[in-house]
Amino acid sequence: MAEAASSSTIPTTVIRSMPTPGWPPTQRDSASGIDPARIRRMNLNEAPFPPSPKAIAAMQEAVTRVNYYPDPKWRDLVAALSEQTGHAAERIVVGHGSDELIVSAGRLALMPGDEVAVPTPSFPGYAKCAAVNGATLVPVRVRQDGACDIDGMLEAVTERTRIVFLATPNNPTGGMLGTEEVLRLAKGLPDTTLLVIDEAYYEYGIYAGGEDHMAALREVTTVPWVVFRTFSKAYGLAGMRIGYALCASDAVADSFQKIRSVFNVNAVAQAGALAALADREHMTSILERTRVERERIGAGLARLGCETFPSVGNYLAAKTAKPAAEVVAALEAKGIMIGRLMAPGFQDYIRITTGTAEDTDALLAALDEVLG
Ligand SMILES: Cc1ncc(COP(=O)(O)O)c(C=O)c1O
Repeated sequence: MAEAASSSTIPTTVIRSMPTPGWPPTQRDSASGIDPARIRRMNLNEAPFPPSPKAIAAMQEAVTRVNYYPDPKWRDLVAALSEQTGHAAERIVVGHGSDELIVSAGRLALMPGDEVAVPTPSFPGYAKCAAVNGATLVPVRVRQDGACDIDGMLEAVTERTRIVFLATPNNPTGGMLGTEEVLRLAKGLPDTTLLVIDEAYYEYGIYAGGEDHMAALREVTTVPWVVFRTFSKAYGLAGMRIGYALCASDAVADSFQKIRSVFNVNAVAQAGALAALADREHMTSILERTRVERERIGAGLARLGCETFPSVGNYLAAKTAKPAAEVVAALEAKGIMIGRLMAPGFQDYIRITTGTAEDTDALLAALDEVLG
């Protein structure tokens, strides 16, 4: 098909200027030339372990019925999530990954010219959410300990702010906030702002001794808020694309419901998530193995003189003596994919996702060669 004439307003200038998804590279498009099956994926904060065997069995069973559309209300999963979180079922919305929910937040709250306050460095999905809607990003640098800066976020809010994103634990720095701090932000925001609390790494935070904010947050009725969680990380279901939102009120939940597509989450993902949720033992073993490998990687980085943020997530961000792009390329040539921080001021930071024990061995040997 011919390219659209350059005078066309479709796509809009905003969309034209945006990057196409697929970057940073995943193992499939690695330039290393190494057999993709042997490449170590330590770049996307995935779990290196398969999901619960019970989830796999449930998904295999669900596959035999995919001639039918999935449950558009995800009833079984919502009932289980409601039971586990203590949150009203009517206020739980399931999404095609928490990515879909982030996009929805932008769609329901933003108009061109609005402002979106985001921690920096943080998850790139927030910048995309602002850009797609013609909103302006207002970055707020994270604290020294890698957690979001509540005072900074509050100072960044103007009468044009429509979304404040908070990530706890934050990706890529891995710092987390206590309930008191989350509440301070929630209570300090005007009701014209949607507070999005992204808890993609919630399970890791709790495992590291962090607080669950939900009971206290439910008491906050002065600002619309929503908490996003995902099955992509601690449950090992990234390839299934399924996450959920715990909403402040019926009105917030309704808004997310209205703008989603009807069958947004496929039946296999729903079945897998439901079974994975019930298998706490499997998830705990993923969390424990993650902790062990994170500590080994942290110790290795410290030996090489690299400063790291004290992360509770399945990743570590570290400052390197060489430019991060060079370190990433050197490791990729050895078949190890890692990430780097794209935020201004963080050019010398890499981000390493924890892998298996063998991944850690290979990573530390490679880092010795590249940075030692
Ligand atoms: C902080 C954060 N939020 C959201 C996501 C998106 O996760 P999902 O796979 O649920 O779309 C990620 C993925 O890396 C993330 O790090």
